[in-house]
Amino acid sequence: MSSSGARSPLSIDPAQVPQRCLYTGAQMPAIGLGTFGSDHVSAQEIAGAVKGAAEVGYRHFDCASVYGNEDRIGFSLCEIMRSGLKRQDLWITSKLWNDKHAEADVLPACKESLADLQLEYLDLYLVHWPFPNYHRPGCNVDERDPNAKPYLHENFMKTWRKMEELVDLGLVRHIGTSNMTIPKLKLVLRDARIKPAVTEMELHPHFQQPELFDYVRANGIVPVGYSPIGSPGRPVRDRTPEDTSPTEDPVVKRIAERHGVHPALICIKWAVQRGQTPIPFSAKRAHYLSNLRGVAEDPLTSDEMQEIAAIDRNCRLVKGQVFLWKDGQSWEALWDTDGEITPP
Ligand SMILES: NC(=O)c1ccc[n+]([C@@H]2O[C@H](COP(=O)([O-])OP(=O)(O)OC[C@H]3O[C@@H](n4cnc5c(N)ncnc54)[C@H](OP(=O)(O)O)[C@@H]3O)[C@@H](O)[C@H]2O)c1
Repeated sequence: MSSSGARSPLSIDPAQVPQRCLYTGAQMPAIGLGTFGSDHVSAQEIAGAVKGAAEVGYRHFDCASVYGNEDRIGFSLCEIMRSGLKRQDLWITSKLWNDKHAEADVLPACKESLADLQLEYLDLYLVHWPFPNYHRPGCNVDERDPNAKPYLHENFMKTWRKMEELVDLGLVRHIGTSNMTIPKLKLVLRDARIKPAVTEMELHPHFQQPELFDYVRANGIVPVGYSPIGSPGRPVRDRTPEDTSPTEDPVVKRIAERHGVHPALICIKWAVQRGQTPIPFSAKRAHYLSNLRGVAEDPLTSDEMQEIAAIDRNCRLVKGQVFLWKDGQSWEALWDTDGEITPP
C-alpha cells in the first residue's frame, strides 16, 4: 500500500531511480538487486528474479561467482537484452572469489564470470574478500582453510595489479573492493594505479559503520551497502545470539507505520538517502518491486533520517569467521578493530 492509498504502479521508471556518479563519471543506479540466495533460494528462482526485476525497472544487479548462479543469470540477461534493453542500460557487478587471488587466476576467473553472465564486459568487478582463504560453500562457521593466510598487503596488491589489467583489457569498466577496513584501504589507495571506484560493505540501520562510510566517500569511493535489510534470510549457521534486527527496531517500525510500508522499505529509503547504494535481495516480485518503489517515492524526512542515525548498534551480522587464519582468534581480527591491520 502506498502512503497515499492510491493504486501502486507495477513498474518504476528507471529515470526516477537516483544515480551515483563514480569518479570516472559513470552513473550507477543507487539501488541494485542482490543475487545471493543464502543457501535456500535456488539459482533458477534468482535468475527469474533478475528478469522480473528488470521488467519492474531495476538496472543494477550485484552478482558473484561464489553465489553459484551466474550461468543462470546469464540467460536472464540475454532475455532482458533481447526484449529491447541495451547493454549500456544495465549495471552488472561480479566478484573475484577468494580462491582466485593468485596472479594466474584473476583473468581466467573474470573470463569465466563473463562467459557465465554472457557479457563482453562487467561494469564493476570486486575483490570479494581481502583474504585468499578458501572454504566450501555452505560450510559451518567453525571450518578453517588449513592454508589460511592473513591480509598481506604485498599479496593483495599482486591481485590488484591483475584487476587493473582487466580494466586495461576492457573486460571490466571499474574495479573495487569489498569487506575492507580503513587501514587496508589506506594502503590500497596509496599503491593502486587504478583506485577502487566502489567498496562493498555491510550497511544497515544497526550497522552504520560511520567512520568507514565517511572515509570512503571522502576518498571518492562509492559505498555499496550489502545486507541493507539486516539479512533476515541468512543461514542459521551465520547467526549469533547477539545479532539484532533493524526491521524489528521500534524506531524503524514506527517510521514504517507512519509511511504505511514494511520496515524493510525504511531501511532501503534510509540507505539511499544517506548516500550508500543498497543491494537488497528478494526473489519475490512484490518485495523487489516495493523496494525499488521505495527509493522513487515518499522520502524520509530529515528528522526521520536523524532518528535512524541514532539507532546504530555497531552490530555486524556478516562476521567472516571462516576467513580467520590462526587458532583461537576472534572474528574481530578480520576487521582491524584496533585501527591497524591485525598482525599476521
Ligand atoms: N560483498 C559481500 O561480501 C556480500 C555479503 C553479503 C551479501 N552481499 C550482497 O548483498 C545482497 C543483499 O544482502 P542479503 O541477502 O544478505 O540481505 P538483505 O538484502 O538485507 O535481506 C534479504 C532478505 O530481506 C527480505 N526482504 C527483501 N525485501 C523485502 C521486503 N520488501 N519486505 C520484506 N522482506 C524483504 C528477503 O526476504 P524474501 O525472500 O521473503 O523477500 C530476504 O530474506 C546479497 O544478495 C548479495 O548480493 C554481498
